[in-house]
Amino acid sequence: MLRISLIAALTLMLSAPLQAQAPDNGAAPRFEEARHAVTWRREELKGIERLVRQLRFDLVNNRDARGAEPRLAELAERASGENLLPAFIEGSHGRGSEARPLIWEEWEAFEAGFADLEARVAALREAAEAEDYRLATRELSDLSLSCRSCHRRYRY
Ligand code: HEC
Repeated sequence: MLRISLIAALTLMLSAPLQAQAPDNGAAPRFEEARHAVTWRREELKGIERLVRQLRFDLVNNRDARGAEPRLAELAERASGENLLPAFIEGSHGRGSEARPLIWEEWEAFEAGFADLEARVAALREAAEAEDYRLATRELSDLSLSCRSCHRRYRY
């Protein structure tokens, strides 16, 4: 009996996942392994790209602020540092990822990139709420610039 519980305890200890450490940004790590974080963040970023594409349709082609509203709310949640930063676990670059190691050397500047993104999404949302489609078109371009300026520096 004792032996069995000892084995059980050992098995439990050995199979305990290695806790991957999130960067020192105050957020609790949500991923047990770095590769899960990489897979998740890449899917999430693809989803964000799709949302932005749909919003271009809503706002530029269809001038449909009402239709855009739920997508804008979703974008505000997903295209945010709070959502994305915990998936950038320190050192999770290399195979299967396009992230540059520079991210973790310049963590604050990388974080600031998401703060800029959030500001661009908020501005787009305001333009849409005001049904100012000309401004919304400009804000969509600025939003894309925000994506690209981070990619230029931190993505291969
Ligand atoms: C602050 C930095 C930053 C911002 C802002 C940013 N990205 Fe990225 N993005 C990255 C990094 C880093 C990667 C590489 C992630 C990886 O491969 O591990 C990436 C990857 C991607 C990918 C590739 C995913 C894949 O699996 O092919 C897409 C698509 C993407 N981003 C879309 C966007 C869009 C759209 C925006 C703006 C709405 C945006 N990103 C804003 C940093 C950023």
